[in-house]
Amino acid sequence: MHASFLNRKSRRVLVLVLASTAILAAGAASASAGHGHHGFGHGRVGHGSASITSQPWGTAPDGTSVNLYTLNNGRGMTVTITNFGGIVQSINVPDRHGQVANVALGFSNLAGYVSDDYTTTASGETYFGAIIGRYANRIANGSFTLNGVTYYLNQNNGTNTLHGGAPVSQWNTKVWAATPISGRHSVSLELTYTDPAGTAARVPPMAPPAGNGFPGTVTAKVVYTLTQDDALRMDYTATTDAPTVINLTNHTYFNLAGEGSGGVQGQDLMINADSYTPVNANLIPEGGIVPVAGTPFDFRTAKPIGRDINSGNTQLVLAHGFDHNWVLNRSGSGLSLAARAYDPASGRVLTTWTTEPGVQFYSGNFLQGDLVGTSGHTYRQTDGFTLETQHYPDSPNQLNFPSTELDAGQHFNSTTIYQFSTAGRH
Ligand code: GLA
Repeated sequence: MHASFLNRKSRRVLVLVLASTAILAAGAASASAGHGHHGFGHGRVGHGSASITSQPWGTAPDGTSVNLYTLNNGRGMTVTITNFGGIVQSINVPDRHGQVANVALGFSNLAGYVSDDYTTTASGETYFGAIIGRYANRIANGSFTLNGVTYYLNQNNGTNTLHGGAPVSQWNTKVWAATPISGRHSVSLELTYTDPAGTAARVPPMAPPAGNGFPGTVTAKVVYTLTQDDALRMDYTATTDAPTVINLTNHTYFNLAGEGSGGVQGQDLMINADSYTPVNANLIPEGGIVPVAGTPFDFRTAKPIGRDINSGNTQLVLAHGFDHNWVLNRSGSGLSLAARAYDPASGRVLTTWTTEPGVQFYSGNFLQGDLVGTSGHTYRQTDGFTLETQHYPDSPNQLNFPSTELDAGQHFNSTTIYQFSTAGRH
């Protein structure tokens, strides 16, 4: 955990209560290592040696060189992350027999991510593995009002602003400054990006007194940490020089049997939520926080993802499957259990912990078989699922939802942990 997370006053400061031994062991590294070179030192961890290495991974459209970093926990788990978009390119974890598979959907090279654009593929922009900012999920009508000024945003999803607006302003298309860090029990990759005021502006601009684009220059840092107990931890921090709205997440699609191996319908999911936020035809919450009891959205007890997905429920029809925000059960503001997924065949378990109030569970509804993934297989509908921990969609316009406002001088803090393990017969 970063010392800088402590002793800060903010409406959204989240006190990180380390609630289990698993999480205790997931503390981020603190010691700084050299940067800019291959091989960044290592810490002795358990039976193996944790390390973080990098390799050149091509050139972004803006001409900047991009790297692929490999975080290895020395205990059989590796994660590769590129500083293009802060994208988690692969997560390689053992099954119950020790067989390692990549459980994250993605592409084998940078070009795949650069062309991940809703204008070029029928599947639309997938956001595989990416950091999503400045505002994850949808803002209705591409506008919101803050302190009496209405701001107009680029509408890149029908009339909505989705995942930060047009690709040119999305954080998943930016080259982030990267610093590898080696700790005693973990390795980390620190990524920073400064998002200028006015990003995602409506074109043509609206006349004053309207605001154009997101207000405030936001300075963001995301630290990915791989721990010795197979946790991928994400610590997000951000500041702004003027009042704005912010909602950050990671958009990894999981298939616990291995990416490209087919559908996830048979994988079990538990979501620690008694209620969710039903949507309208634009996938914007209608305003209600509705109990999941008696609906296909009841994942309080683990059930196969596919059990109710074809049920004909109106909400599932609107979204072509699950693509909704669950209101997480939590006590206090610290890390709390959000979800647990389990693949009965491989025994792989993914447990998600977060400080965020919601999780968008998306069942890969828009994947259409026109994208060739990392290992050379196409991705079709329901071949992966996301657990996007975040504030609720459209919060800037829905004042009954927890606030996503960030003022100058405040510090945004958010942590999510994807913890891997195995279960079942041996
Ligand atoms: C999020 C959205 C989905 C879809 C995907 C990317 O999960 O909620 O509707 O846009 O991103 O395809």
